[in-house]
Amino acid sequence: MSGYVVAIDGPAAAGKGTLAKRLAAALGLPYLDTGLLYRAVGRRVLDHDADPRDAVVAAAEAEALGADDLARTDLRGPQADFAASAVAAIPAVRAALIAFQRRFGAERGAVLDGRDIGTVIFPEAQVKLFVTASAEERARRRFLELRARGIQADPDQVLAEIRDRDAQDANRPVAPLRPAEDAVTIDTTMLDADAAFAEAMAIVRDRLGESVP
Ligand code: DC
Repeated sequence: MSGYVVAIDGPAAAGKGTLAKRLAAALGLPYLDTGLLYRAVGRRVLDHDADPRDAVVAAAEAEALGADDLARTDLRGPQADFAASAVAAIPAVRAALIAFQRRFGAERGAVLDGRDIGTVIFPEAQVKLFVTASAEERARRRFLELRARGIQADPDQVLAEIRDRDAQDANRPVAPLRPAEDAVTIDTTMLDADAAFAEAMAIVRDRLGESVP
């Protein structure tokens, strides 16, 4: 592998995506939002009017996933969130998506964000960050994000959905959401995007020293 891998895991709406994109740009590495893979599988299952918890259908859709699926514009929102979390609990779906993620990171290094990047996909990643924030703060951010996209939401319901998804992602038997033993945790509850980025860059420099641009 020519570059290095920065693995960023953490719960929904903790600021992983924003941070990962900025780190990738600063480090000159490609970026992969692995949540999109699960979202796209969930969408394909919904397209067939099937239940995202149906392991046989979901595994077949994961095998059939193509580049066009990742470019869809309907991968966000409560229905897509739920479907993604449901298919992500199915071992055969996760297995079908491993090779693509590893290939992506192995070509020239990458920043990847998700739930199991540091624990399963790249256990040997040179830098592992676990990005988190309180459920209330994550719900507040998600609510503002939905509003900015013109979607009406009830703040209490957004918080309930965040909690449900946390429980589903953390309690599944396969690749549950948890920090890798050698991950450094960044709690963004009290940090804005600039402060989170500064903290992450300090950790990357500490791990990689001279090789960081
Ligand atoms: O990061 P996100 O909210 O877009 O992820 C959508 C769902 O996919 C989330 O409920 C958990 C799941 N997921 C996962 O299990 N493993 C990953 N590497 C990325 C996402």
